[in-house]
Amino acid sequence: MAKIIDGKAIAETIKQEVAEKTRLLKETKGVTPGLAFLLVGENPASQVYVRMKGKACEKVGFHSVTLEKAEDVAQDEVLDTISDWNRDPAIHGILVQLPLPSHIDENAVIEAIEPRKDVDGFHPVNMGKLLIGVPALRPCTPAGIQELLIRTNVELRGKHVVVVGRSNIVGKPIANMLLQKRPHANAIVTVCHTGAENISVYTRQADVLIAAMGRPEVITGAMLKPGCVVIDVGVNRVEDPSREKGYRLAGDVDFASAEPVASAITPVPGGVGPMTIAMLMQNTYQAAAWMAGNA
Ligand code: GUN
Repeated sequence: MAKIIDGKAIAETIKQEVAEKTRLLKETKGVTPGLAFLLVGENPASQVYVRMKGKACEKVGFHSVTLEKAEDVAQDEVLDTISDWNRDPAIHGILVQLPLPSHIDENAVIEAIEPRKDVDGFHPVNMGKLLIGVPALRPCTPAGIQELLIRTNVELRGKHVVVVGRSNIVGKPIANMLLQKRPHANAIVTVCHTGAENISVYTRQADVLIAAMGRPEVITGAMLKPGCVVIDVGVNRVEDPSREKGYRLAGDVDFASAEPVASAITPVPGGVGPMTIAMLMQNTYQAAAWMAGNA
């Protein structure tokens, strides 16, 4: 029986820690961290995520603003909004929910964000710092994965971490974070992806498997090394007429067959997802503290 890694509980603890640090920042510096969200279009998942992130802000004592723009908004209008927030001293973090409509150049939008306010950690400056291994705002999902591993005492030094998926949001940054020569990293990292003829050749070698390809339940127990730790980053909507909403959430891992093989595994929902939001709170606090002159 695998240990079920309770991301929801760990995320709650982190948010409580951020709330306490925020209280102190207000008391000592008179600064309330402020986070601005930009939501473009009507993507239902994006709407849910932004709402959840806004609620988390309330919970930890941040100020937040959400601006919603129509699907056909001009790119210049998006860039102007970011430019306003870059100059606004009450805003310490800027988050543009992705994906954006295809007529908007996502990279141009990310690059317009002031790197010190880039609480998603997607700006090339922050990505570059992550690669080099110097302090910076780190992407929230990878940061949440590393924090989950730390708080469940999973030793990474010398272990083989296999990342499935090479996205800019998860695969590439988590691989780079875990190969750094520092505590809670120093792993041997393999990244595999759709270019592989047979991904199970790689997944079977993993001491720690990080599944982040965004395809429902493709990693099965037969593809795992017995005793491995499984981190499931997938949040896939799978049609399910028996549910009220008409769908259920499924990870990239087939939990039923993987759980008996693994020594520890994250559930979906309730694993990595809540950690992403907790790390967004942590990043926004950090950005505000840096701007207020705190370490
Ligand atoms: N879309 C999916 N994941 C993310 C994320 O971490 N940040 C933003 N801004 N958009 C996303």
